This record gives sequence, C-alpha cells and structure tokens, in this order.
Amino acid sequence: MKPAIIFLCLLLSVLDHGSAQSCDGETFSSNRLYTTCNSLAYLSASLHWNYHPSNGTVDVAYRAQQSSGGWVAWAINPNGSGMVGANAFLAFQGSNGAVTVYTTQFSSTGPQPSDVKDENLTFTVYSKGGEYSDGYYTIYATLELPRNDTKQNTVWQASTTFTNGVPYGHPSGDNYKSQTNLDFLSGTAVSTGGNSWLHRRNIHGVLNAISWGVLMPIGVIIARYMKVFKSADPAWFYLHVACQVSGYIIGVSGWGLGIKLGKDSAGITYHKHRDLAIALFCLATVQVLNVYIRAKHSMCIHITFIEIDLMDDLRVNSCNTRMAPSQSEAEDKLRFLVCRCLHCF
Ligand code: HEM
Ligand SMILES: *[C@@H]1O[C@H](CO)[C@@H](O)[C@H](O)[C@H]1NC(C)=O
Ligand SMILES: *[C@@H]1O[C@H](CO)[C@@H](O)[C@H](O)[C@H]1NC(C)=O
Ligand SMILES: *[C@@H]1O[C@H](CO)[C@@H](O)[C@H](O)[C@H]1NC(C)=O
Ligand SMILES: *[C@@H]1O[C@H](CO)[C@@H](O)[C@H](O)[C@H]1NC(C)=O
Repeated sequence: MKPAIIFLCLLLSVLDHGSAQSCDGETFSSNRLYTTCNSLAYLSASLHWNYHPSNGTVDVAYRAQQSSGGWVAWAINPNGSGMVGANAFLAFQGSNGAVTVYTTQFSSTGPQPSDVKDENLTFTVYSKGGEYSDGYYTIYATLELPRNDTKQNTVWQASTTFTNGVPYGHPSGDNYKSQTNLDFLSGTAVSTGGNSWLHRRNIHGVLNAISWGVLMPIGVIIARYMKVFKSADPAWFYLHVACQVSGYIIGVSGWGLGIKLGKDSAGITYHKHRDLAIALFCLATVQVLNVYIRAKHSMCIHITFIEIDLMDDLRVNSCNTRMAPSQSEAEDKLRFLVCRCLHCF
C-alpha cells in the first residue's frame, strides 16, 4: 500500500512538472501581476491568479488561444464537476465588436440559446472584463471562492459556434476533458476528484454506508443466525460485538464529518437529511448502550467459561483453590481475571 502511494505521488509530481511551466512568462495588460499560474492541460489555456486569504477572494486571469471570432469560457463548478453546474465566464466579440464577458450558470449540457445570458452566479463576482490580443482571449475577474474553499472544480471551454449572437455549442474530445480540480492556495491541479468539500462529502457517504449499510447489518445477521450453531460459540459473539462496535465508531465518524460539512456550507441546510441523521445517531447510541449493558453480563459468562477451560489445563479448578503451585505470573493473572468474572454471576 505505502510503496504504491509513494509511487503515485512521484508519478503525479513528474506529470505535474511536465505540463505546468509554460505559463510563467505570460504577461498581462495594465501591469496586472499574478503570483500563481497553471498551464491547463487542454485547449491551449492557462490560469493566473492572486488568492487573498483574508477575504477568501481571487483575482484571476484566464488566457486562451482562440480566433477573435470565436469564444472562450472559464468556470467554477461549486457543487459538481464538468459542464452541469458550471458558473461560467464567457468572453466573445459582442455586436459592437468589443470583447464582452457574460457570467452564466449552466444547469445542463442541453441549454437553450436564451439560457446563455449575462446573469448572477451562485458566488459573488466583484469585477469582470476581457480583452483580445495576438490570438489570445483573456478573461479578468475578481470573485469570491464558493464556501471560502481554496479547492474548486474548474471547467473551461473554447468554440467558434454561436446561435442568436451568443456562444452556443462546442466540439467534443479535448473540449470534454477540459476540467480540473484546482487548489488556489497551493496552485496544484488534479485532473480527477472533487473539491475538498465534495471530497469530504463523499467520505461522509462512504463512512455511513460502511457503518449503517454493511457492518451493523452483518453484526445483526451474525447474532441472529450464527448463534444457533454450537460450534460457532463463542466466536459469533465476538464477531457480533466487533461488527457493532466498529460500525458504531465508523458511523459516528461519518456523522461527525456530516455535522462539520453542514457547518462549512453555511446557508445550505438539508433539513430532512440532518434531522434523520440526528435521529439515527440517537437511536444507534441508545442501542449500543443497551447492548453494552446486556453484553457486560453475557461477555462475563463467555470469558469465564473460556478461562475455566484454560484453568483446567493449568490444573486449577477455581480462582481460590490451586491444584498445583503457581507456574508463572501469567497464571496468577488469569486466576485473578476469573475471580473478577465470577462476580458477574
Ligand atoms: C454555450 C452553450 C453550450 C452548449 C450548447 C453545450 C453543449 C454541450 C453538450 C451537448 C455536451 C455533451 C453532453 C454529453 O455528451 O453528455 C457538452 C459537454 C461538455 N461541456 Fe458544454 N455546452 C455549452 C457550454 C459549455 C461551457 C461554457 C463549458 C465550460 C465552461 C462547457 C463544458 C463542457 C464539458 C467539460 C463537457 C463534457 C461533459 C461534462 O463534463 O459535463 N460547455 N456540452
Ligand atoms: C480582499 O483582500 C485584498 C487584499 O487583502 C484586497 O486587495 C481586496 O480589495 C479585497 N477584496 C474585497 C472584495 O474585499
Ligand atoms: C476565509 O478563510 C480564511 C482562512 O482560511 C479566513 O481567514 C477568512 O476570514 C475567511 N473569509 C471569509 C470571508 O469567510
Ligand atoms: C444580481 O445581484 C445583484 C447584487 O446582489 C442584485 O442587485 C441584482 O438584482 C441581481 N440580478 C439578478 C438578475 O438577479
Ligand atoms: C449548490 O446547490 C444548491 C442546490 O442544489 C444551491 O442552492 C446552492 O446555491 C449551490 N451552491 C453553490 C455554492 O452554488
């Protein structure tokens, strides 16, 4: 596992270096300076930016090769990836011949031309502008990073087709691959995976699925059906307890992560989901406490029987009566344990 992860990291860093250097020398009009840049893997484009941690905003310059009669777009997708959910900046030549920048939300891959209009995005845009020179469009914008998260899914696009005077439609191939997760803090791009909020949301889902969906039901099935086999005694009991306890711990981690996610996505509350989650947590806690109290008793019996078996081997028939002198410290400890457990009866 570990060598594989190290190998993957090395591979990623090599790939990263192979593609990420050419944006460094690019300059912008009006002496605009950007501290970080990323050469995007597709469509001859790059992104330059300054990140302001104090207020969670970025100034970006998206630069992409294109004929002046075509269009380019750069977008953040706060809730997903790819085109669906993209909050886009589109630059093209307006009817007056000047470069126009639209901010447009795409809710599907099948928008109507009338959907491609200048509108508010789901996050605040403080300024936007664009220019065309020497075969490149540049989009300038200052915006608020959604959820104040530096990791965002980004998408970009370029095409030469228009309908009713607005950008409309684009090729496939590289134009479908033009998406990446970008960390505005570190400057690194990862071609797969969601933003960190989405990533944590997925972990939340996986933890809960393993806990409530796999471990807990298996624990119940073991208790219900393995118990009847005498040969499976007391293994079924330990398996059952192990499943329930690990299921509960993983479930509580998933639950805690969910609560944290809720706090981090201020403004969006999934009430039903949250109420169900809290109810489930309370029920599970009551159940585990209940099982724990009952288990304490039967656990004691189980342990005691096992220990008594061992005691026979050691020619000791109870915790007080020794048939032979103590063989070792371990034997004494065992005897002590049995004494303790006998109190359970
Ligand atoms: C302007 C109007 C647009 C139209 C009519 C349009 C149409 C489409 C269509 C029909 C697909 C194929 C969907 C499929 O095969 O499932 C697609 C895919 C895609 N589009 Fe667009 N698109 C537009 C704008 C944009 C913009 C502005 C961006 C990026 C900022 C973009 C990025 C993508 C990407 C990355 C895909 C690949 C599939 C995905 O990840 O969702 N598109 N588009
Ligand atoms: C964000 O902070 C930066 C620097 O700290 C400042 O230059 C910029 O004006 C601020 N932007 C907003 C929208 O407050
Ligand atoms: C965004 O997060 C940074 C720290 O990561 C914090 O200092 C800043 O106050 C936050 N800004 C907003 C607008 O929430
Ligand atoms: C866009 O947002 C601004 C400021 O929040 C608001 O004044 C304006 O009405 C919004 N426009 C639309 C079309 O919702
Ligand atoms: C995420 O999606 C929800 C609806 O599904 C929407 O209300 C919310 O504004 C979106 N968040 C962002 C940051 O766009």
